[in-house]
Amino acid sequence: MHFTQFDSAEFLRTAWQKQPRLIRNPWAAWRNPLEPDELAGLACEPDVEARLVTYARDNWDLEHGPLREDRFAKLGKKEPWTLLVQAVDHHVPAVAALLDPFRFIPNWRIDDVMVSYAVDGGGVGPHFDQYDVFLVQGLGKRRWQLGGLCDGTTELQPHDHLRLLARFEPFQEWILEPGDILYVPPRVAHCGVAIGDDCMTYSVGFRAPSRAELLAGWTEHLLEELEDGDRFADPDLQHLENPGEISAPALERLHGMVAERLLDRAAFARWFGTYSSTPKNPDIDWRPEQPIAPDDLREVLGGGSALLRNPASRFSFVREGPGSVALFVDGRSISCTGAAAAFAELLCGNVRFTVDPVLLESAHAMLLIAELVDAGSLAFSDED
Ligand code: SIN
Ligand code: CO
Repeated sequence: MHFTQFDSAEFLRTAWQKQPRLIRNPWAAWRNPLEPDELAGLACEPDVEARLVTYARDNWDLEHGPLREDRFAKLGKKEPWTLLVQAVDHHVPAVAALLDPFRFIPNWRIDDVMVSYAVDGGGVGPHFDQYDVFLVQGLGKRRWQLGGLCDGTTELQPHDHLRLLARFEPFQEWILEPGDILYVPPRVAHCGVAIGDDCMTYSVGFRAPSRAELLAGWTEHLLEELEDGDRFADPDLQHLENPGEISAPALERLHGMVAERLLDRAAFARWFGTYSSTPKNPDIDWRPEQPIAPDDLREVLGGGSALLRNPASRFSFVREGPGSVALFVDGRSISCTGAAAAFAELLCGNVRFTVDPVLLESAHAMLLIAELVDAGSLAFSDED
């Protein structure tokens, strides 16, 4: 899947994290990648996160999956409802392919593709999210209304687990048809309502760590490495006029003990890489039954077979020096130099790729590929 008319540099400059943008069908050829009944099937599976939102008699209701197969037959014909399924890209390759044209945004910022299905009048009500989203209309029509910027003080409807806005004043309104995309920046109030039945919307969602989450995760990691004997010491203690004073030199040393660790940038980069590449759905297991032998690997790759990244796996890297990178895959950090570093960059920049014959000569690169195939983060593409 790719776009024909879309200027990603212009989009980043003028819209990303700044203002909503309607992008009328930019796809080379739009094809809805998932059928409604396949989505309903996913919502019944135990390891899939699904929600059903119904609206009846002025009342919103939320049910969590897995749903029973007969649940859909019981839904009223008159009351609007919508089904939402999280991380469908991790389960369905054709939905994962929707991400391809959005790769101008870094891997670590991508969260997942949520898919919704609604009957006429269905929607989740006016709300805001903390994250950027591209709302891709897959099937049918949806009216999107956008309001102002919200924050922690924005009033929500009482006793409401759907976090609906108490007041919603739309400033803009569009009707999206298949292939159309609406970009909504974080915290912008929005409300989408299906016009007619069979309305499917794909939410290409991003993530951005909160400062609280970063501090909690980073300090928790630091604490794991600290020893009880790593303690304040003052062999140079000076006589104080008042023993009640916590002296400036003592404070300097105490503060230094904290700052030295908290501000270790190289250690932070390593931690953040592993933290942000930890998979959301570790159950999507691509591990082969038998570990792959290095000779077999070289032969298959040498024959031109392509490798495919597991869509539930996360891949990124940090440059550490000339020709050396730290590769992060599924919460693991792997130091790579030379040919292995070149492979790490190829892997992070491409969802599906073939390996250059030069890399096949490198024992280090071959070991790395075998390790990733054995871990289920990579597999040979079926398309060959
Ligand atoms: C939907 O697809 O109905 C909801 C998407 C959203 O508002 O974030
Ligand atoms: Co939303």
